[in-house]
Amino acid sequence: MSVRRLDAHQPANFRLTADNLKWARDLVKNYPKERRASAVIPLLWRAQEQNEGWVSEPALRYVADFLDMPYIRVYEVATFYTMFNLSPVGKHYVQLCGTTPCWLRGADDIKAVCRKVIGEQGKVTDDGMFSWLEVECLGACVNAPMVQINKDYYEDLTAENFEQLLMDLKAGKKVKPGPQNTRHSSEPEEGALTLIDPALYNGKAAPAAKPKAAARPKAAAKKAPAKADTAKVDTAGAGTKPRGLKAARGGRGDDLKKISGVGPKIEGLLQGLGIFHFDQIAKWTADNVSWVDGYLKFKGRIARENWIEQATTLAAGGETEFSKRTSKKG
Ligand code: FES
Repeated sequence: MSVRRLDAHQPANFRLTADNLKWARDLVKNYPKERRASAVIPLLWRAQEQNEGWVSEPALRYVADFLDMPYIRVYEVATFYTMFNLSPVGKHYVQLCGTTPCWLRGADDIKAVCRKVIGEQGKVTDDGMFSWLEVECLGACVNAPMVQINKDYYEDLTAENFEQLLMDLKAGKKVKPGPQNTRHSSEPEEGALTLIDPALYNGKAAPAAKPKAAARPKAAAKKAPAKADTAKVDTAGAGTKPRGLKAARGGRGDDLKKISGVGPKIEGLLQGLGIFHFDQIAKWTADNVSWVDGYLKFKGRIARENWIEQATTLAAGGETEFSKRTSKKG
């Protein structure tokens, strides 16, 4: 670990606000009197939050006095944990993960954007808007590369979308945390591949072991519903089932997996509905989307992932950012 020193420019003093002081007094009640030092990390964290993202030397002494600790013990904690900033940070404090998974997925490109837009690591921009620091794994490796800005994670970054993100923050625009591509959470890029059988959710899945047949009371048998129309029961949601084809035109369907959010399983389910071509999806109405969304138990994913827009582009012979990537892989 690199040497971490206190900032050369320190304020004259530090005091917790009245609210934070009350919080701190309540906090130490959780510990036996001789173990008050156990509260050092939450107290330093609160002091950092109050002090616009960094802990000053007077704040360290304040915490030490509050907990009856030698100053050096509190300095040790604050200089050991990189979660404590020892110098002022920007309004948007970027922590860039440079650990192996993020590095393999392009963290160097993200770092280059930090240098270009923000400047030298550890320095606050003249307008006070940004500063950045390379840190170790932030635990979101599955969405690498990623950064943390203040309390939010921004994932699946590229040099382009990250630079745009910083520009939007600079312009005071609202930005959306989480994956910055069409991916939902940490699902595979082409959509969920497991637990996607609608029968798992509509009560139709076969039970693990058939319970021993019990004599069915006659009255109950009488109440059984008339033979179900399976096409209707399958809908499992509101809306209108899209019209399907009996078979793919010309005996060959489109590769629906070129739509971001459609994996092999989903493609199979769509084909089961008679959906083989991009132009079929491109023509779905809002009612159709709602029906398919319910059928696949997607909770709005079709709209979130812009299937219609993607299918329209692909049906016209164009490519999307995602389809280009899948073509390259193929
Ligand atoms: S390696 Fe970057 S979040 Fe884990």
